[in-house]
Amino acid sequence: MEYLTFPEAGSSPELIARAAQVVRDGGLVAFPTETVYGLGCNAFDEQAVRRVFEAKRRPLDNPLIVHVSEDWTTPERADGWLREMVDDLARNFWPGPLTIVVPGGDEFAPSVRGGRSTVAIRCPDHPIALALLDAAGIPIAAPSANSFGYISPTSARHVAEDLGDLCDLILDAGRTRYGLESTVVEAQEGKLTILRHGAIPLERLRGSVVASVSVFDGALNDPGPRRSPGLHQRHYSPRVESIAVMPGLDLSQVLVAGSPLDERIRYVGYEERESMVPAQWSMLSFGSILDLEIVAHDLYENLRRFDTPDQRGLLILELSDEPGLGRAIDDRLTRAASGTILTSGAAVRLFLADKAGM
Ligand code: TXA
Ligand code: MG
Repeated sequence: MEYLTFPEAGSSPELIARAAQVVRDGGLVAFPTETVYGLGCNAFDEQAVRRVFEAKRRPLDNPLIVHVSEDWTTPERADGWLREMVDDLARNFWPGPLTIVVPGGDEFAPSVRGGRSTVAIRCPDHPIALALLDAAGIPIAAPSANSFGYISPTSARHVAEDLGDLCDLILDAGRTRYGLESTVVEAQEGKLTILRHGAIPLERLRGSVVASVSVFDGALNDPGPRRSPGLHQRHYSPRVESIAVMPGLDLSQVLVAGSPLDERIRYVGYEERESMVPAQWSMLSFGSILDLEIVAHDLYENLRRFDTPDQRGLLILELSDEPGLGRAIDDRLTRAASGTILTSGAAVRLFLADKAGM
């Protein structure tokens, strides 16, 4: 594995040329985007795409996002409504953290689409990513550069720790700007459906585009052939056991007297609620609920830091129940907790008593 560090402010034509060559030769390049780091390869090269799936240990039915440069245009054959919709979205949000799922895409390597008849496309808003796309001259298929189910990487160090020797090249350009993945929308005639909440909130989409926008509500328990195969109930997960709780629970009633568990519980919440957390537990903070952009920016870094190698610990993750970015943050925390959300102090107490065998 080769590791290239970019100068503090800006790109470097030599480093970009080197990375573009690795992509063209069928290699795997971890690169920064404005959301999280991606593990990229030539989107036309089936062998390279297979290597990405293997490196992540990702199921083959979970398709990849194809990253394109700013001059990408909807293929000619796209008919009226699709062209209009993509143009509208691209004008408003590209380059940027919006992924558009559209019909077609059979020009790419078959595994990119994971057996579906649609393809996910996005133009990232990051100078290194855009320079790489331009220099490579081909679209780059890239999932987040983390092993399947684990926390997404917001720095090159995260990638090196998690996938290190499985990449041919890691490009380090510091921490990512948003810290959360792109919002994934599926384009259908006359409407858009959010398949994954992300850096562009529902409210901003609704305020900017002509089409109506709804949210796919099977998101957590998508039965049958998955509409969005990436929506696994357990995802973005620390290795230590985690549960999610609704905000503002009465925590004065939750302690189980004499529980040996108490010293291993780490409550992760918003700093405003610090005084409500029982003194027996450690309190860790996501930051202030008044600034969810900062919370999002630091979320994965925090989850990695709070993930103890001690498998006997328990993380209690507090949801925000806020609109806007709160939706994406709560989505990630809920999946980090494998879908377990406790909604009352009494439920938390029962859970803890059960876990302590008391
Ligand atoms: O911000 C991001 O989107 C980052 C950066 C690297 O661009 N990428 C990313 O990729 O998060 P990944 O693979 O971790 O997540 C892609 C999501 C998955 O939930 C996947 O199932 C969904 O997009 N997806 C991809 N192609 C799809 C398709 N054709 N239909 C429905 N969902 C699709
Ligand atoms: Mg991912």
